Amino acid sequence: MTPELMEAGTRARERLAQLPVPGQSGGRAASYGRVVQPGVLDTTHGPILYLDDITVSFDGFKALNALSLAIEAGELRCIIGPNGAGKTTMMDVITGKTRPDAGQAYFGSTIDLLRLDEPGVAKVGIGRKFQKPSVFEQLTVFENLELALAGDRRALAAALHRLNGTQRDRIAEVLVLIHLKDEAQRLAGLLSHGQKQWLEIGMLLMQDPRLLLLDEPVAGMTDEETERTAELFLSLEGDHSLVVVEHDMSFIHALTQDNPKKKVTVLHEGHVLAEGPLAEVQANEQVVEVYLGR
Ligand SMILES: Nc1ncnc2c1ncn2[C@@H]1O[C@H](COP(=O)(O)OP(=O)(O)O)[C@@H](O)[C@H]1O
Ligand SMILES: [Mg+2]
Repeated sequence: MTPELMEAGTRARERLAQLPVPGQSGGRAASYGRVVQPGVLDTTHGPILYLDDITVSFDGFKALNALSLAIEAGELRCIIGPNGAGKTTMMDVITGKTRPDAGQAYFGSTIDLLRLDEPGVAKVGIGRKFQKPSVFEQLTVFENLELALAGDRRALAAALHRLNGTQRDRIAEVLVLIHLKDEAQRLAGLLSHGQKQWLEIGMLLMQDPRLLLLDEPVAGMTDEETERTAELFLSLEGDHSLVVVEHDMSFIHALTQDNPKKKVTVLHEGHVLAEGPLAEVQANEQVVEVYLGR
């Protein structure tokens, strides 16, 4: 690793160390006498992600229409809805890829997401998984994770740095989480589609994001891979917050069955049509009409 990268890594770790651990930061005691630091994630008084009245227009068509949504720290929120509902556009707004015409987007209570560009959003702790896996096929699974740790996908050569013990431990930990421990030395190009998706999730995890945005993560996976992905996400819930957009209702069921109160959000025509426990949402007449009944 180059000295600059090492320095960048140290800075990143220092920043991460300042982030509150979910569950340890809440409550009156924790907030008493605390000084608010600009740019540092603060979820002591509210949600980790807060969207309010977001509107995005494309040539007069409202892909998002006064969308409001709040995700609590440590929450795993499933978002469903028909094609064209605005699910991907919502992720584009959160990650700084698309600027809304109106509305507010906050990460914790202090970080205004609409003032950040895409790298800026990643830096404050939001990781995004796109629909198509984008791993480096010519590198091994281990090297892909190593590269993600270096934090700069463009600096391919820098991936050949020497890892310290902590970094090795973290890679080993993530390899277990993503079920690729036995494939560590395999070329990523030789993995199955599902394994590539897991590797990409692992690469996101190397950056230790507080919030993970996952757009149709099980599309194209086998049933067994889908089940394992549900287990993986459930194991991340709590330590991380997750927003999962998916069409596969058996997957949504697997992600929510541990807690009958877990909220699911239904998007339709750019705004929230229904929100609540899966059973309630599934019984909602409007939801059945626009989405589930088809
Ligand atoms: N860059 C764009 N330009 C024009 N229209 C867009 C653009 N991105 C999305 N849309 C439109 O906005 C609507 C919402 O799209 P999207 O967010 O991709 O929906 P979903 O992910 O829920 O299927 C769709 O009608 C889509 O055609
Ligand atoms: Mg989409």
